[in-house]
Amino acid sequence: MLRDQSIGFIGGGNMGEALISGLIAASVFPAEKVFAHDVMPSRIQYLEKELAIKGRSSIGELARSSSIIVLAVKPQVISQVLDALREHLSHKPLVISIAAGIALSILEGRLPDLTPVVRVMPNAPALVGKGASALSRGKAVSTAQMEMSLALFRAVGKAVEVEEKMMDTVTGLSGSGPAYVLLVIEALIDAGVLMGLPRQTARELVIQTVVGTSMMLESTGKHPAELKDMITSPGGTSIHGLQLLESYSVRGALMECVEAASRRSAELGKG
Ligand SMILES: NC(=O)c1ccc[n+]([C@@H]2O[C@H](COP(=O)([O-])OP(=O)(O)OC[C@H]3O[C@@H](n4cnc5c(N)ncnc54)[C@H](OP(=O)(O)O)[C@@H]3O)[C@@H](O)[C@H]2O)c1
Repeated sequence: MLRDQSIGFIGGGNMGEALISGLIAASVFPAEKVFAHDVMPSRIQYLEKELAIKGRSSIGELARSSSIIVLAVKPQVISQVLDALREHLSHKPLVISIAAGIALSILEGRLPDLTPVVRVMPNAPALVGKGASALSRGKAVSTAQMEMSLALFRAVGKAVEVEEKMMDTVTGLSGSGPAYVLLVIEALIDAGVLMGLPRQTARELVIQTVVGTSMMLESTGKHPAELKDMITSPGGTSIHGLQLLESYSVRGALMECVEAASRRSAELGKG
């Protein structure tokens, strides 16, 4: 069904570019059916040159070219973008917003009645095709439109549907998650250096350990505790390391960390 669509991006920044290049690389859309508008003409020129897509010089022109419109601007400017967009939607395109914290009720309230709107929370690894995105459907979104939306975000990683009331949780978990993982990675690299390894060697070993462990978890489908038990021998090195982590309540800290980030997401949403 995506074959019959054309897609337009308002905002061609980091996320916009990641999505466009993912969609073209995965052959979800041919470049000639991808449009972009950005306030910076140099961004449009860059995307036209790098990805062979078509730039559009105004939001109206972009909207008229597109059966799917992706709002990929910062939340602070979403209001002015919706104002500029609303009068160009007579062809009832599907509107997809990735603006963090902007509720479906706000998006739907600022667009013509029955505009199908999907809200998405992607995360930073989408920039390298390994994102984790959660999508919530608005009132007028059909099953086919939701399937199309999921397919779009699967071009840059994994995508799941959640109820909108879970969006703050998703923001605190997978949205901010890369920051937590990076902190752990940085600390492990420093630990390797502390114990005498060259920094580059420690970096390679730690990145591969995190990637490999994630892949093992995914490919076996086993519970993390089961895999952990398999590699933790009696009286061995791993159990001694784990004992120390437990004494610092690392599990509790991670749970409270996600709780705090989700709470902050809710606060920002209210603002
Ligand atoms: N990056 C992430 O990891 C991530 C994760 C989850 C969600 N998001 C969400 O994704 C959205 C985009 O983030 P991003 O990182 O891609 O931001 P970004 O790199 O700043 O991209 C936004 C682009 O939109 C342009 N723009 C601003 N106002 C515009 C307007 N009125 N019309 C058209 N274009 C306009 C910006 O130009 P200027 O630079 O001149 O303002 C910029 O080129 C945000 O809402 C963010 O909350 C991002």
